[in-house]
Amino acid sequence: MPENHDSNVTRLAEQLRSDRRITVLTGAGVSAASGIPTFRGPDGLWRTHRPEELATAEAFERDPALVWDWYDWRRQLVAACLPNEAHAVLADWSHRFPRLRLITQNVDGLHERAGTRDVLRFHGSIWELRCWNRCAAAPKRWIDRTIPLPAPPPRCPACDGLARPGVVWFGEVIESDVLDRSLAATDCDLFLTIGTSSTVHPAAALVQRSRAHGALTAEINLDATPASSLVDIALRGPAEQVLPAVEEARAAGEPSA
Ligand code: OAD
Repeated sequence: MPENHDSNVTRLAEQLRSDRRITVLTGAGVSAASGIPTFRGPDGLWRTHRPEELATAEAFERDPALVWDWYDWRRQLVAACLPNEAHAVLADWSHRFPRLRLITQNVDGLHERAGTRDVLRFHGSIWELRCWNRCAAAPKRWIDRTIPLPAPPPRCPACDGLARPGVVWFGEVIESDVLDRSLAATDCDLFLTIGTSSTVHPAAALVQRSRAHGALTAEINLDATPASSLVDIALRGPAEQVLPAVEEARAAGEPSA
């Protein structure tokens, strides 16, 4: 840990108060300790799989069975994992601080399983499906937790055409309601970016936006990222250890009853 780690933990802990508007953005690093691979690390998913073959509309059009095989595999992997200490601390904060908003780029649903309220799913959910043809008779999206998928690729219950994963692929836009609420959440007092490489836009720009709104910004990450030089507090280390340490410092600083 860097020399100033402990003082930065204390500094961040002091900012966590009920009257503060706190916004948290999370990425794959938060789920790493649960056993879910990140995208860009040494064992990252994009080291062994080409995103353009698996995570674009063009890939799905070309080979829906291949894309669904990959999502089916990830769904089974995620289903076998449990939320870790990082998810637990954030879930606790989401109830402790009424003005906290959590935006996640993760599609795994582990924040929800840890009990976090009102998760803003920036890149959708691996547990949701949508009609590929956007048929009018189908719901906009529906939940399907079946693993493994009985006969991939799954079908739309309304038109029997192809169903697609309810996630945002490269080249696709963020759902307008989610984007609006996320942009609104950048108007805050404290913005925390945790376990994300800060390379995928528009999520990566949220931290700068919060800075422009005058927020104090902090990052928790194993490594330096493009956000590291922008934030007021950069904490190097695993989120599943740093977050509990921040929570311990916060609780220790609370006035006793
Ligand atoms: P990345 O894989 O790009 O980055 C993961 C980040 O987590 C890296 O900066 C790591 O240093 C950090 N990290 C790894 N383990 C950690 C730990 N235990 N504690 C703290 N930090 C840790 O994942 P994202 O930034 O989430 O998009 O990727 C953004 C988007 O790119 C994803 O949502 C996905 C992907 O393509 C879509 O699927 C649309």
